[in-house]
Amino acid sequence: MKSISMSFDHFGGPDVLVAGEEDLPAPGDAEVQVKVRAIAVNPLDWKLVAGYLESFFPLPLPAVPGCEAAGTVTAVGSGVSAFGVGDDVIWNGLAGGYRSVANFPAGQLTSKPAGLDFEQAACVAIAGGTAYSALVQLGVGAGDTVLIHGAAGGVGSASVQIARNLGARVIGTASEPNHEYLRGLGAEPVAYGDGLAERVRSLGSVTAVVDTVGGQESTAATVALLGGHGTAVTTVPAEESNAAGVAPVRQLDGRVAQAARLAAEGRLRFHIHDRIPLTGAARALGISRGGHVRGKIVLIP
Ligand SMILES: NC(=O)c1ccc[n+]([C@@H]2O[C@H](COP(=O)([O-])OP(=O)(O)OC[C@H]3O[C@@H](n4cnc5c(N)ncnc54)[C@H](OP(=O)(O)O)[C@@H]3O)[C@@H](O)[C@H]2O)c1
Repeated sequence: MKSISMSFDHFGGPDVLVAGEEDLPAPGDAEVQVKVRAIAVNPLDWKLVAGYLESFFPLPLPAVPGCEAAGTVTAVGSGVSAFGVGDDVIWNGLAGGYRSVANFPAGQLTSKPAGLDFEQAACVAIAGGTAYSALVQLGVGAGDTVLIHGAAGGVGSASVQIARNLGARVIGTASEPNHEYLRGLGAEPVAYGDGLAERVRSLGSVTAVVDTVGGQESTAATVALLGGHGTAVTTVPAEESNAAGVAPVRQLDGRVAQAARLAAEGRLRFHIHDRIPLTGAARALGISRGGHVRGKIVLIP
């Protein structure tokens, strides 16, 4: 089976990605072959290509980035009984997703709900699953006011929607051009930058925080606003968040299926910032690295 892939043989910026054609073998015993219909781009992808994650996830090179996708099963390995040819699936792994056809471990697949289109399905695992995990970890519910740092991004916009579904009031940080978008999701927008904590405080008391931005400004605002009351989680743990007692998000088992269910029910929807052909993946990584994606970028093989 021929597959188009985007790979890199040395670490660097987005331009180290090159398109190539692979001869994909038949799927191994515990693998499933998937014709990929859409791939979602994540900051993890350009960090992996840059070599920033080498000490956590050493990858033999050449490697193919991409940690989530959706598609249709075209063949299954001899030991696989959970999926069959023709099934629509969501894949979530660490790397290997920037392909038109791929052999994925069966254990990394989740059934795609019938009502969910492939683009939305490609986006639910990382952004939706992480947001779901963060809000469960925080125990958010009606009566809470949740501050979401980075509310217009992938994880942030999913966190806004899931927190609203749980009955919470949501305050979200974003730049001014994203404020109307956040209002549309049901959040009260606040600009980040100097005076952030004061601007949030003027809207009321915060009981929980999801930080998808990290760094000094958002950590300091979290500490100032919670003041020892309430809880906070971050998707970008670092020294300052650890020192401040902001917990790293713990990814829950079953999160992908939960996020896919919410999406299929119409309670979680991703704004598609850009739809780019797979062979334009370098451009997609450059946009992601720029740090101002609204919702998600998807690659189409
Ligand atoms: N630990 C985990 O398991 C895990 C899982 C998923 C993601 N992550 C990490 O979490 C982070 C967020 O991921 P993502 O996919 O949501 O990223 P993303 O979609 O690329 O986030 C982009 C968003 O960040 C906003 N932003 C940029 N600077 C900001 C600031 N100073 N304050 C508030 N918002 C700001 C932008 O809004 P404006 O354009 O309005 O500035 C933009 O909407 C990444 O570092 C990612 O690697 C970790």
